[in-house]
Formats: sequence, structure tokens, C-alpha cells
Amino acid sequence: MSRNPIVSVVMGSDSDLKYLQDCVNLLAESGAPFEVRVLSAHRTPEALAQYVSKSAESGVKAFIAAAGGAAHLAGSIAARTVVPVIGVPMPSSDLNGLDALLSTAQMPPGVPVACMGIGSGGAVNAALFALQIIGLSSPEAAHFVSEHRRKKSDSVLEKDRTIREKLSRVD
Ligand code: RP5
Repeated sequence: MSRNPIVSVVMGSDSDLKYLQDCVNLLAESGAPFEVRVLSAHRTPEALAQYVSKSAESGVKAFIAAAGGAAHLAGSIAARTVVPVIGVPMPSSDLNGLDALLSTAQMPPGVPVACMGIGSGGAVNAALFALQIIGLSSPEAAHFVSEHRRKKSDSVLEKDRTIREKLSRVD
């Protein structure tokens, strides 16, 4: 089996990594081959363009692009490939990610970016969304997402049981 990355995680700065750790951990847990890069739409535009062409050719099936501020990373990648791009706005600026959310979501018709929520939660959903895309042709990835959802569901039901038991003892 090819171990070329099928998911590419690109962040605009290494300062974004703290919001991406759970996303990276989830991808690692899934067993899907992935890679993580720091490339910027504004600071390294040529390197980004070269990377996107190379990755799309070598079999990447989904890009996750995380950037803060005037976040053009996801859009810049989407402009260069028809491989799906999932944008994650980073809360790294004085506007706490609202700027990045709007920059990532408000793409012109014709060049879509799937925009997740701001920060770590959005990044986790980006990993799951990428695995859902991969899961259309990979039973392992689809199974991983279903199991992840089942575990989350079980954990809420467990919390429900715990809180009901706790409150019934108070009565
Ligand atoms: C964005 O600017 C990056 O994605 C990061 O969220 C933000 C700040 O970058 P640094 O100045 O910390 O490198 O492009």
C-alpha cells in the first residue's frame, strides 16, 4: 500500500500548532497517511504553490488549511487544485479568529472552501471531515469516523447517567 500522504495539514505559522494538536493526533490515530507543513499564503506564496501542485499529483485527497488573521491560506490552496480544501480559522489575532473565519468562509463562487469553526474544535472537525472524504473510498477511514462518533455518543450518555444519579442522591 502506498504511504504517500492522503491528507495534508498546512498551517500558516508554527504558532498555529497549539490549535492543531488534537487534529494531528486524530489523524495519527486513524492510520491514514498524512503530513504536516508550515507554509503561508502571504509569506511563502511560491513555495505554497509548488507544494499544492506536487501534493495533488502525489495523491493527496484532502487539504486542511489553518491560518489566522487575514487568512488566505485555504483560499490560495483551493485556487490551485480541485482537491477538497478544509479551512480552519485560527484565533491568533486581536480579533480572536473572527477575521480568519470571514476570510476563510467568504470565498467567491466557483472556488469553494469547506470552512470549519474557529480554533481547536474546528481543527478536530477538519480531521474528521477529511476522513469522511477519504472514507468515501476507504472502509477503514469510514469505520474510524463511525467509531469516533459512537464513542462520543457513549460518553455523553455516560455523563447523562452520572449526572442523573448524582442529582437523584441530592433529592
Ligand atoms: C497567520 O498569522 C498564521 O496562520 C498565524 O495564525 C498568524 C500569526 O503568525 P506568526 O506571526 O505567529 O508567525 O498567517
